[in-house]
Amino acid sequence: MNTKNTILIFDTTLRDGEQSPGASMNTEEKIQIASQLERLGVDIIEAGFAAASPGDFDAIDKIAQRVTHSRVCSLARATDNDVKSAGEAIAKAKMKRIHTFIATSKIHMEYKLKMTPDEVIKRAVRAVEYARTFVDDVEFSCEDAGRSDMGFMKEISDAVIQAGASTINLPDTVGFRLPFEIGDMVKQMSEYVGNRAIISVHNHNDLGLGVANSLEAVINGARQVECTINGLGERAGNAALEEIVMALKTRSDVFSDYETNINTKEIYPSSRLIANITGIEPQPNKAIVGKNAFAHESGIHQDGMLKNKSTYEIISPADIGLDREDTLVLGKLSGRAAFKDKLAKLGFILKDEALNSSFERFKIMADKKKVIYDDDLRALVTNEMTKAPKIYEIISLQLMDFSEGTPSAVVKIKKDDQKS
Ligand code: KIV
Ligand code: ZN
Repeated sequence: MNTKNTILIFDTTLRDGEQSPGASMNTEEKIQIASQLERLGVDIIEAGFAAASPGDFDAIDKIAQRVTHSRVCSLARATDNDVKSAGEAIAKAKMKRIHTFIATSKIHMEYKLKMTPDEVIKRAVRAVEYARTFVDDVEFSCEDAGRSDMGFMKEISDAVIQAGASTINLPDTVGFRLPFEIGDMVKQMSEYVGNRAIISVHNHNDLGLGVANSLEAVINGARQVECTINGLGERAGNAALEEIVMALKTRSDVFSDYETNINTKEIYPSSRLIANITGIEPQPNKAIVGKNAFAHESGIHQDGMLKNKSTYEIISPADIGLDREDTLVLGKLSGRAAFKDKLAKLGFILKDEALNSSFERFKIMADKKKVIYDDDLRALVTNEMTKAPKIYEIISLQLMDFSEGTPSAVVKIKKDDQKS
């Protein structure tokens, strides 16, 4: 019997991710991404913010018709107009959700909404009740939960659960909280709410803590995590899906009670699709999907890897769907063993002197060039292999110009096997 807790993965690449500067996507691209997210196995796809524009509405509507295995969700502010748009946009989905939100922190209520806490509760309840006329599954978010009063969040949660919400999301909207603080907030809220609703988190990455905060939330009772592929999202982005999922999987010793429905082999294809469509490449040293995430450059590491991959690799590239068999990158710190191995993979078997002299020339090249590409190696080795055997060597060459007479040259040569 499976007694593990399933952590629902709520992907918001198409909504919060699209809020990254420069990440806007057209409808066709959004459909492609949604289909890939479905292959990846995400439980809920936040397909957009239906009231934002006719284009957003249309994309959500098309995604709702295409996706069958994931739940399709639209965001809505706590207004009738937004909720109606969301309800209509997801109407054709097999499984659907409306996600409505209103800010609950003192700062937001006072300066942004200019509403009293009682007015905020009334708006939230009305939005949830109205959303329930479109769907059975309604999520309510306390925007800026990270800076909201715990007593007020309990009060508004009671009211929206009563109105029909089944998920309470606690966003750290400005990425302000530290892991122990998120853990404490989630623990208090999940104990308070009990089995009346699922507690969800949505962590922004302003202090680089989005993933750590999400993992701490899981340990303390969150059963849904909101995240994006490649950590895309508003400002410094959202917690990265691939990092959360691979941390849960790789550290199954710590997270033995939890599982996700993610097919991790679809992580790398998903990351590449998003990067290609948005034009936003993950930083090279980005965990899990950065282009250097599985690259071993130093000689010591390469030597260890060749002997046994577990010396320096905690995740197999194949687990995230990265086919690249060979993840050794050659540079000036690479050793002879890695050089030889890489050449063999390129189809060159060099021995003894040829290997030594190629390696010497490789070191000189590596001093000048940061990264040595396969083509550089091919050129270097081809050169080595096509060196003609030496038969004659020119010892000296003297040219004489007899302007009046016949020009002549004196050439001293030696045959390869002769002494000069
Ligand atoms: O960061 C945030 O608070 C949000 C909400 C709309 C969930 O994105
Ligand atoms: Zn957000």
